[in-house]
Amino acid sequence: MKKLNGLISATQLADRSLLESLFTAAAAMERHDAARTLKLSLSGRILATIFYEPSTRTRLSFEAAMQKLGGSILTAENARENSSAAKGESIADAIRVIGGYADVIVMRHFEEGAARSAAEISPVPLINAGDGAGEHPTQALVDTYTMTKELGSIAGKRIALVGDLLYGRTIHSLLQLLSLYEGVSIDLIAPPNLRLPAQYTEYLSANKVMFRESESLENVLSDVDVLYITRVQRERFSSVAEYEAIKDSYFVDAAMASRMKPGAVILHALPRLNEIAAEVDADPRAAYFRQARNGLFIRMALLEYLLT
Ligand code: CP
Repeated sequence: MKKLNGLISATQLADRSLLESLFTAAAAMERHDAARTLKLSLSGRILATIFYEPSTRTRLSFEAAMQKLGGSILTAENARENSSAAKGESIADAIRVIGGYADVIVMRHFEEGAARSAAEISPVPLINAGDGAGEHPTQALVDTYTMTKELGSIAGKRIALVGDLLYGRTIHSLLQLLSLYEGVSIDLIAPPNLRLPAQYTEYLSANKVMFRESESLENVLSDVDVLYITRVQRERFSSVAEYEAIKDSYFVDAAMASRMKPGAVILHALPRLNEIAAEVDADPRAAYFRQARNGLFIRMALLEYLLT
């Protein structure tokens, strides 16, 4: 497979050997970080983050990743208001300019497709950190890496993807990576108006991935190996009333968790609102904070892959 020059869609990661090498590199990053033996392989290189939507994990883990590997960062946080976008500058012009200052750009934007358009004119590799309701491919790397670490293997596992499957960009990227593993079975659990878009169900069918669509989490809870629950995203709804009506559709508390398999794992890309009760955090199967930390090591591995 040709080496990637930037990352816009999980489609570019449809190669198990690439995934395995990134996971191996991420695990090595974690070991070296703990032992304080990291090589400063990105010394002298600059990463620019330009985020037109809020973020805690993605932006800060990319910035930490770059700095741990000896690189430096330029950051345009809240770029909608605090960059020249507020004066009307186009993304295309901004990316051309930032690409003259940095060796790699990480961009989050509120419009689906914005990352692809930006990558087409970027003079340096560009990483999609989330484009509206489109994709979030580095989160999918984090998620599959976490499943592999927690379960040993993804092949043959039954995985419930729950909540906002319509707008959930993490889900849109993740299911493409899950489809690379043999025997995976996916339960798509969503309210009727937040079902997975047809392009992704068609993708699963075309790739012969077993999947079922349902509204009921209760019916599958005791059978799944992974419960991946998502936030209903207020920012994607034009009607507050519509959001309020479905925002609490799925909720996992200790009583619900007690019905899950002993070896199952509970994931959430975070931030969570009212999807998982705080009492579940102490459950050893609650892996969402480990998942967020894995983001640091996956992004270190990805930056080193792209820049060396
Ligand atoms: N999971 C995720 O993308 O989190 P942030 O929005 O905080 O970056």
